[in-house]
Amino acid sequence: MLRNVLWWLCAIVFTLAYSLRSPAAEVEVATSKDGQFIGVVGCKSSSCHGGAGEKRNQYLTWSQQDFHARSYAILTNARSARIAETLGLPPAQESTRCTVCHSPFQSVAPVRLMSTARPDEGVSCESCHSAAESWLRGHTRKDWNYAMRVTAGMRDLRSFYVRANTCVACHQNLDVNIMKAGHPELTFELDGQSVAEPKHWRDDNPSSSLRAWLVGQAVALREMSWDLSKSKTPDAEAVARWKGLAWLLAKATAQQTSLPIISTLSETTSPASFRATQEQSDLLARRAAEYQFRNDFAQQLLRALAATNSEFVTSNETSRDVLFRRAQRLVLALDRLSNAIGQRTTAAAKNPALNQLFEDIRSRTDFQAPRFVEHLRSFSATIEPSLR
Ligand code: HEC
Ligand code: HEC
Ligand code: HEC
Repeated sequence: MLRNVLWWLCAIVFTLAYSLRSPAAEVEVATSKDGQFIGVVGCKSSSCHGGAGEKRNQYLTWSQQDFHARSYAILTNARSARIAETLGLPPAQESTRCTVCHSPFQSVAPVRLMSTARPDEGVSCESCHSAAESWLRGHTRKDWNYAMRVTAGMRDLRSFYVRANTCVACHQNLDVNIMKAGHPELTFELDGQSVAEPKHWRDDNPSSSLRAWLVGQAVALREMSWDLSKSKTPDAEAVARWKGLAWLLAKATAQQTSLPIISTLSETTSPASFRATQEQSDLLARRAAEYQFRNDFAQQLLRALAATNSEFVTSNETSRDVLFRRAQRLVLALDRLSNAIGQRTTAAAKNPALNQLFEDIRSRTDFQAPRFVEHLRSFSATIEPSLR
């Protein structure tokens, strides 16, 4: 009885603390304020997560197939050396400008690292699941359920909102100067990137893909809005990218009435308008993470988004760059939604019309809106008649 009461108290305190945190605070990943990091060596024994069976092979999947295990090593390659040199930084593997995402333990106060945590282990278990000190001993107990592990401090990655916040911290906003020095542009796409990351977990829920897509897009928009709201003179390219995604989510949320909408944009932007979109998109992400989607919602979205060809015309307000950014986000969306409705015949690999659209958005300088419109029409025609 007493144990039950204590458990509920913990749960309530946790829920309160959780709901009071601002989105920007939640996005602090590896640097979350308390608990020590043990390092991957603490997770990899064969009786824990380093075994061969499906239930115990997370370490093997991560170390052998996951890009995150290489993220530190990348900082020692020639491309990184060039980027660091262009920026006048110390070697990339020693610069916090790079290690903050590629080698998170190097950005953690040394007192929070146990002697077993290696600074060069890259994006490892605790970068996503949170510092293990507080939950390591308890999380294997048979009488602990998932909620109790989360209460003990393990990050609730089953929540798509929490999961998206975890990934987006390293996958969307990048200092403009780092990008101009030759770093790949970052575009967060939770659904696509969850498929690309070799999964070390099971997920059989049929609505996961649509949910991951929508929550991920909303969280990406929130982060871009937050970043832009801080600057009086935001980078023009960053604003064009923001407009592309805001446009997509305005179209998507216009499709139903019970999820929060991203309002259609005025063409002038300001810190206040970015802050307003930041709030709208955070609300959208939170709600979409819990929402009961209608069975045909992904189909309805796919149809509506594929029918946007009239919006790809340059005008005084809509530059070619903005159209390119719209197209970029749109094509990724068409791909993920096709996948979500299980329309296998039209998924990227098998649908030439979709491949053509991917071709069209490969290069900003070669992008031609009229050609894109034509190809978008061809894509629409491939949507199964019953879905059109
Ligand atoms: C905001 C987080 C973040 C920061 C800061 C960051 N990176 Fe990255 N970096 C990433 C992500 C995420 C990728 C993977 C991008 C992709 O492939 O889409 C990446 C990819 C790379 C790649 C290409 C890897 C490949 O497989 O080709 C190099 C090289 C690189 N980063 C070097 C650097 C250097 C050098 C710095 C510091 C000047 C730096 N990064 C700062 C997140 C970051
Ligand atoms: C890039 C982020 C990331 C990294 C790095 C990562 N995980 Fe995960 N992990 C996830 C996500 C997302 C899930 C899915 C949510 C869930 O099931 O809890 C997950 C799920 C799991 C699960 C639950 C499996 C299931 O089917 O229920 C285990 C166990 C796990 N991870 C262990 C590990 C271990 C051990 C490592 C390091 C070797 C690791 N993870 C590294 C993101 C990550
Ligand atoms: C602490 C920072 C960090 C976190 C958190 C993180 N990543 Fe990454 N991720 C990186 C870096 C750095 C790279 C580049 C490493 C490379 O290319 O080998 C990367 C690469 C990737 C790649 C391969 C490149 C690409 O973009 O296709 C995928 C997929 C990916 N991450 C998915 C995820 C997912 C899904 C999550 C959340 C569950 C996540 N990441 C969380 C830093 C992070």
